[in-house]
Amino acid sequence: MRKSSEKKKKKQDVGPGSVVARDRAGAARVVVSRKNVTGPAAASTQKNRSANHSDARERAGTTRAREHTAATRVTSVPKNVANRAVASAAEIRSGSPVIARDHTAGRAREDARLYAYVNGQIVPSEQAVVSVFDRGIVLGDGLFETVRAVNGKPQFFDLHYHRLAKSAKRLRIQLDLDQHELYRLAGQLCRQSKLSDAVVRITLTRGRYLGGLAIDKSIPPTLIITVAPVSGLPPKLYAKGVKVAISSINKAAASGLDASIKSTNYLANIFAKAEADKRGAYEAILLGPHGEIAELSTASFFCVIGGKVLTPPIGTGILPGITRQILLRILKRESIPHGEATIFPKDVGHMQEAFLCSSVRGPLPITRIDARKIADGKPGPLFQRLRALYDAECAQPA
Ligand SMILES: Cc1ncc(COP(=O)(O)O)c(C=O)c1O
Repeated sequence: MRKSSEKKKKKQDVGPGSVVARDRAGAARVVVSRKNVTGPAAASTQKNRSANHSDARERAGTTRAREHTAATRVTSVPKNVANRAVASAAEIRSGSPVIARDHTAGRAREDARLYAYVNGQIVPSEQAVVSVFDRGIVLGDGLFETVRAVNGKPQFFDLHYHRLAKSAKRLRIQLDLDQHELYRLAGQLCRQSKLSDAVVRITLTRGRYLGGLAIDKSIPPTLIITVAPVSGLPPKLYAKGVKVAISSINKAAASGLDASIKSTNYLANIFAKAEADKRGAYEAILLGPHGEIAELSTASFFCVIGGKVLTPPIGTGILPGITRQILLRILKRESIPHGEATIFPKDVGHMQEAFLCSSVRGPLPITRIDARKIADGKPGPLFQRLRALYDAECAQPA
């Protein structure tokens, strides 16, 4: 009874034609509403956008204005609604000040105003809007990068930019900003948002949806940069390690996408993570086409077998993780025995250590995979050494 009346209330709150969803980090919500776009004046212009694209955007903008202007408002959730499935429309509309909800630990900071970049403008995050007709929303036709910024400086940005540009090229989505400009904007957002340690998310979509699936190169893409605070996972997780669960979802089969592209379609990973949550695990391991260990829902996989640090090859159908790349570089430099190898769940019993890694978390020890303990169930010496070397690498000036 209570459930159904609650459901009804939430539906009314959100209003007709609106959709509310939780983002990947569970922090921000995307609300598609019928509110007009009323962003403040541009703080920055996209200097190197081609004249063609400006024209096309203008045309698209005019069409948008003629229709009742539908906007997507990206906002964070007030502390008191953070645990609810759906925030009410009133709560979302009130929108200000933007709440910087902690990305990894789920804590709320209500003292900072965040800024975002959307198609050439820097605006307060609660006013960062794109059209409901954006192909990123309508078709999941886009890609993204998640970058950690330390001291306001996006880390390993050359590698992130390279992956973004390569994926954009493969998806035939125009990336108008060069590495330098994107880096500068990300840094500016960190400064304006008063964030020294931040998660920077860059999202690039194919822009306006005109019906059908055809790729129209005259439509300008949508480029969004957001920043969020990161205070890190509870230190306990790094000290004790985490349990992960092997998912029944095969990523390659589920998404049908080239796994090396960080596409905005994360459905397979979302459901793998949901499965892990249900089993009381921190993360999910997704298997490759032959039942081999591929990667985790938001991280790369490493283990130690016979004293050698091993990670699945890119050919397993994994995202070429930036942190994975950094760790491989460190392993090589330090002459620590390592290599790429096909690893199966049956090998878990032989693992002396295991860990996952991602840009936001760095390396994090895995001490249990499903019911099986890794060695003595404690983070191992190679993990500890790599973690220290990785931290030293992050402390280098960008
Ligand atoms: C599926 C997947 N694999 C691996 C990673 C780790 O990649 P990176 O080290 O570039 O953050 C991520 C990060 O989000 C991911 O989503």
